[in-house]
Amino acid sequence: MSTNTAQIIEQYLAVDALEVETKVKAMYRDVAMNPDGEYHFEMGRDMAERLGYRPDDLDQVPSSAIDSFAGVGYYFDLADIKPGEDVVDLGSGSGMDTFVASLYSGSTGTVTGVDMTDEQLDKAESLRRAHGFENVCYAKSYIQSTRFAESLFDVVISNGVINLAVDKAEVFREASRILKPGGRLAIADIVSEKLLPEDVTCNSRLWAACIGGAMPETEYLETIRDAGFEIELVRDNSEYRFISGGAQWGMDNYGVKSISILAVKK
Ligand SMILES: C[S@@+](CC[C@H](N)C(=O)[O-])C[C@H]1O[C@@H](n2cnc3c(N)ncnc32)[C@H](O)[C@@H]1O
Repeated sequence: MSTNTAQIIEQYLAVDALEVETKVKAMYRDVAMNPDGEYHFEMGRDMAERLGYRPDDLDQVPSSAIDSFAGVGYYFDLADIKPGEDVVDLGSGSGMDTFVASLYSGSTGTVTGVDMTDEQLDKAESLRRAHGFENVCYAKSYIQSTRFAESLFDVVISNGVINLAVDKAEVFREASRILKPGGRLAIADIVSEKLLPEDVTCNSRLWAACIGGAMPETEYLETIRDAGFEIELVRDNSEYRFISGGAQWGMDNYGVKSISILAVKK
């Protein structure tokens, strides 16, 4: 890892990790229970379609999961999930992407959603049961230490989550550990074009809003490579927009934005 990336990671590690976890859990408890509330970001079907989700896929997903969808980009075209594959969704929230993934992995594959917020897991599990998604299951865990066996999955997906992790290098190492060799990492996440100032990266409230933890894109990609991946494709999700004033400030001044990435474990 370059000295520059190591220094940037140190800057993000200075935030109070427990405070970030508490605020992130509170924010996403509300997202699960009150999707019509006011947030820094848009949610729901219109946004999902604008990001690139196929209406045919969304028609087969419980609408209540779509209402609480808080992802930041589309990556299923990059993930190219095939029937029979085993998929894990890091930070599965109310479950929308786990249900979409299960349409592709089919009855012979599996989809496992991982999240740390009880209300998100409870909502996803009750929708899974009510709508008969037999090949989907959920696990309460941290994405940086899932406790899954090594080389278990064909595909790791994640949408709008890794920016919330205080140590992104740890998350990518964990993704690499649980993927089979040749397995794919297909994600959408928030990054920045310029390094955010320390008073932002130390502000746990801004982390929960998906701004404070945004790492510069170049170093974010280096962190993925350092975890043992080859990056195949990176694309900007220009359709993704934050809606609060503070978030707009991050976009205008530091190039805070959403990207989708496909990487392959070497
Ligand atoms: C922005 S939401 C995205 C949820 C989902 N991927 C979606 O597209 O709707 C972030 C989710 O990640 C979970 N999360 C954040 N940090 C986490 C961590 N370190 N370990 C496990 N879950 C985490 C939160 O509980 C929340 O459900």
